[in-house]
Amino acid sequence: MAVDTKEITRIIAGYEKSEESLLAILQDFQKKFNYVPEEGMEKLSEMFGVPASKIYAMGTFYKALSLVPTGRHTCKVCTGTACHLKGAPSLVDVLGRELGIAPGETTEDKRITLQTVNCVGACALAPVVVVDDEDYYEKSSSQNILKNLKKYK
Ligand code: FES
Repeated sequence: MAVDTKEITRIIAGYEKSEESLLAILQDFQKKFNYVPEEGMEKLSEMFGVPASKIYAMGTFYKALSLVPTGRHTCKVCTGTACHLKGAPSLVDVLGRELGIAPGETTEDKRITLQTVNCVGACALAPVVVVDDEDYYEKSSSQNILKNLKKYK
């Protein structure tokens, strides 16, 4: 699916032309399109005069950015040590089975992307699942998470 290039230009134009703006622009792309489109990185390279390779490197380095289209919502299961010990692997298994996807994949209806991440800094509340980088579900059971995921349309 083609992305809206006008929107790409509008996002870039909203920032000061400096290297410090690059990450914020990529984050805006991610928010707007649910991923960082190639067209966006190329336009950014052209408008800011920054090598495309540098922008691609940023796109692959930051975990919050995805170079492939993701779902409308991301469901991140922490698989750090504390969460691992408290059952994160079985959470990943059950969620994957129920959603019909493996970690890193997106449901067919583009609703949810399932991901595993390293420690999110809430070990005392393990196992932790984070939806859309803002909703933290602590001491999660797979049944609770599945119930809560229903509200993300
Ligand atoms: S290991 Fe999961 S929050 Fe720290």
